[in-house]
Amino acid sequence: MISFDRKNETFYLHTKNVTYAMGLCDGNKLLHRYWGKRLKNPLKKIDLMDFPFRSFAAMDLSNTSSDVVPFEYSAFGTDLRVPSVEFTFSDGTMVAQLTYQSHEITEGKPKLKGLPATYCEEGDAVQTLRIHLADTLQNIEVVLSYSVFEAWDAITRSVEIINHGERMVLDAVMSATVDFYGSPERELIHLDGAWARERFLTKQPIVHGNQGIDSRYGCSSAFHNPFIALCDKNTTENYGNVYAFNLVYSGNFKAGVERNAYGCDRAYIGIHPTDFRFVLEKGDSFQAPEAVLVYSATGLGEMSRIFHRLYRTRLCRGKYRDIERFALINNWEATYFDFNEDKIVEIAEKARQIGIDTMVLDDGWFSSRLSDKNGLGDWYENRDRLPNGLEGLSKRIHEKGMRFGLWFEPEMVNPGTELFRKHPDWVLQVNGRKPALSRNQFTLDLSREDVCDYIIETVGGILSRVPIEYVKWDMNRTMSEPGSMFWNELRQGEVMHRYMLGLYRVLETLTQRFPDVLFEGCAGGGARFDPGLLYYVPQIWTSDDTDAVERLKIQYGTSMVYPFSTMGAHVSAVPNHQLHRRTSFEMRCYVAVMGQFGFELDLNQCTDEELATAKKTIETYRKYGAVFHRGDCYRLKSPFEDNLFAAEFISEDQDTVILIVACSQPTPNAPDTFIRFRGLDETAVYQLEGSDQRFYGDHLVNIGWHFLNNQESQSLLLIFHKI
Ligand code: DGJ
Repeated sequence: MISFDRKNETFYLHTKNVTYAMGLCDGNKLLHRYWGKRLKNPLKKIDLMDFPFRSFAAMDLSNTSSDVVPFEYSAFGTDLRVPSVEFTFSDGTMVAQLTYQSHEITEGKPKLKGLPATYCEEGDAVQTLRIHLADTLQNIEVVLSYSVFEAWDAITRSVEIINHGERMVLDAVMSATVDFYGSPERELIHLDGAWARERFLTKQPIVHGNQGIDSRYGCSSAFHNPFIALCDKNTTENYGNVYAFNLVYSGNFKAGVERNAYGCDRAYIGIHPTDFRFVLEKGDSFQAPEAVLVYSATGLGEMSRIFHRLYRTRLCRGKYRDIERFALINNWEATYFDFNEDKIVEIAEKARQIGIDTMVLDDGWFSSRLSDKNGLGDWYENRDRLPNGLEGLSKRIHEKGMRFGLWFEPEMVNPGTELFRKHPDWVLQVNGRKPALSRNQFTLDLSREDVCDYIIETVGGILSRVPIEYVKWDMNRTMSEPGSMFWNELRQGEVMHRYMLGLYRVLETLTQRFPDVLFEGCAGGGARFDPGLLYYVPQIWTSDDTDAVERLKIQYGTSMVYPFSTMGAHVSAVPNHQLHRRTSFEMRCYVAVMGQFGFELDLNQCTDEELATAKKTIETYRKYGAVFHRGDCYRLKSPFEDNLFAAEFISEDQDTVILIVACSQPTPNAPDTFIRFRGLDETAVYQLEGSDQRFYGDHLVNIGWHFLNNQESQSLLLIFHKI
């Protein structure tokens, strides 16, 4: 619920458990007042004198210092900290001062033009507050939008800049900045990584100065994720105040916190300003991406559950949002580039026998794509491999009663292709400089409308011609030389953001045109795992690292923000192709079944015992997928702290509880470990499936499940039913 207390000039954004408040000072300065546990009583009117004067730092704020006043959204030049927004005006000056003009509160939530965002449905208690700020001298309007998802306990923010004055340049625009007044004991949490090691949980104390994370790689990246949280020192899964920010964007971003001399923290998140420079003519506007703000009074576990509920119901869209998806087999790790139609059919046949419903053909099916050196851009079948074309293969897969899925990497081109010969100007490049190759490929310039149209026609043409039910949309390089042959010298600083707008248009068009196709995102593993992409594709390949032990950390870290329903997770062969580690088949199944389950090996090489385990796990996935994907997840043991991962999933109706435990490294003669459940009905009794054992809820919560971590690949999947 959103309200405005006229007398005290205070805005309140209330969700079920949270309050976010802003106040007007002197009738025109919009200040941040509060974010935290829901307040029951009104705040008194804010006064600048509430903020003590700091010598040498005063701006003209009537005897207080602008670098301690918690501006809700501030411009460069009138606030000495990291500004929310930076301009260069036609007169060459850069200073702006944003003052309150008006506001309106409306029901629901408008769409963000051209950008992904959370949405509401008919009947949802969602309201939006729009506050209009302006720099009256330069004629700039800044519209701050806040939407309150009451039942979800989440608040979203976005910013629109409208130029009513002369041509100017938008140099930086944060989607959210929030000031924390006096907070010396806070820590910063983020998700760092690399290829095959995505989204590892990182905590660091906040120190004086500016600190944070970013991506300048052209995608949200494997190195950092557009997520930060400020939290109390010693925050755990179940304890501590957590203030989390996640940017609904798949491109370059910057997020961090600046601690000033007096212990005030300013958190910020938005498009990376380094290669961003947007020219706005008179009458033009710029819409910045959405930031999702989540507060939890009880640690990281609750923060994650809030993100999970919001993302799986009000960010992901389409036919597959609420239904169980596919149990698939992908040929990549089984064959790499070495396959033909018969080999794929042979893999599919074995998969069908154990209940797999979808065969996905990965990289290498087209034109000259015999290795990763050529072919990208020429999207027609390689007839040596597929003599009957995609239609022929799709037909044979469908005759088995299975679905057919196909891999694409439409944003890229290899230099040896017909596409590149015809359109060398279609790749990202800066006039006169040779663009760098990475994985032997160039990035197509999706800031261009003609390139985007070409991708829509090419991929759309194949999806119209061939019966295909699943698409894996890959993207395998970071983007360098971010320039365009299409845009003039004024617009070169717009290319990377225009690339994202182009990509989003392509994805929107294709997903709307082919609503029955399940799209999965991918980027050299999980290098573009972000809420921006999840608006178009309900699941993303989590990592190229399919080693079960590494996956414990990768999936644990990813689950900080993203629900298991969004994580592609496959069982692969041993020794594992990335780490050469051996883990049991059972452990590989239990680790993968939490996500969108699949296999990525030649099942013809598996033993009967392994096939039986695979079959049983597929049955569990079909029967209980909804518990993993629509229930609540409680992380019980962290592989970042112990040699153990444990997570519990409780179904929406609270009747089914699944415990998954997997050990990353055994300890000889290990100490007794008790895995204590959470969120159970402590007055209820739970029956363990497949046995006659029953357990009191309070015993499971307070005593826990005894587990001895003393064997390699030790793992458990236990299903309990409330009786
Ligand atoms: C990277 C992906 O993450 C892999 O799964 C596979 O599709 C390869 N690309 C194919 O080139």
